[in-house]
Amino acid sequence: MNIKHVISVEQFLDKTILADLFDTASFLEQKDSHNSLKRILSGKLLASLFYEPSTRTRFSFEAAMQKLGGSTISTENATQFSSVTKGESIQDTIRIISQYADVIVLRHYEEGSALKAAEVSSVPIINAGDGIGEHPTQAFLDLFTIQKELGSLKDIRIALVGDLLYGRTIHSLIKLLSIYPQTQISFVAPEQLKIPEKYKKFLEQKNISFEETNNLETVLENINVLYVTRIQKERFADIELYNSIKNSFEINLPILDKLSDNAVIMHPLPRVKEIAPEIDLDRRAAYFRQARNGLYIRMALLQKLLYEPTRFVPQQKTPEMEME
Ligand code: NCD
Repeated sequence: MNIKHVISVEQFLDKTILADLFDTASFLEQKDSHNSLKRILSGKLLASLFYEPSTRTRFSFEAAMQKLGGSTISTENATQFSSVTKGESIQDTIRIISQYADVIVLRHYEEGSALKAAEVSSVPIINAGDGIGEHPTQAFLDLFTIQKELGSLKDIRIALVGDLLYGRTIHSLIKLLSIYPQTQISFVAPEQLKIPEKYKKFLEQKNISFEETNNLETVLENINVLYVTRIQKERFADIELYNSIKNSFEINLPILDKLSDNAVIMHPLPRVKEIAPEIDLDRRAAYFRQARNGLYIRMALLQKLLYEPTRFVPQQKTPEMEME
């Protein structure tokens, strides 16, 4: 993988690269907690710089780094606890942190911020969510989860449900799905949160078939992945509008009955009310396994970006050294 920064899934629209990433993730999963993993990134430092809240993304990146023997420095509330409060620009902040750390995981509320950061960073930038733009590492773990749960990526029939306008996990996942030609997508959203035109154009160019509806029930029978998302409250200027559509979809037991036995239910989490807690007990509920897969995908990605095998080759003695 000859990639420095991870900004968009568009850098990864290649089945071989993804298969290699998933193989590495599976290998690391098998070896999880093995002491030998600690040598992979020992001496390397990851900085996580989060301007928006996070549980899974930040903790799993930090856990991934530490499991590979590296260490971490972080601020989970960069808007308040970094020099941004003094007026420092994101680019100056990155210029500085890239002098201390070997990789920076950045989450920021502005679309395009990760790209801006990469322009001035001397170390890899990983986009952990840039506003309503993208969330590439979430899409990797989503696709990895689909592969594990369905056994292959050949016949994905997926319903993407909820906030398709602001949901960045959706935006990244759509692009990744586009390289698997048999994929069928059902977009299920309230009228005000429909998928933006540019993503539909993207799919059209790749000949991927999709439909749009606001009626979840009509798509349930045909799909094998039900991917549910949270309505992104923080992106609404009009709270009244949010309140009027916040409970548009709820996956409950009657919905579950209409879903095929072999289907899986996914959610990037956090959930609010989109999935009732009683669904958790159903074996098709894959969202907690999905979150765990994030750990191994992030371990694999960090290894690909930072591992330098030559660091561990014992130095050959030159004849001069032998004589000393
Ligand atoms: C998502 C995000 O931050 O975009 N969370 C995550 O990283 N798993 C989804 C969300 O916040 O709804």
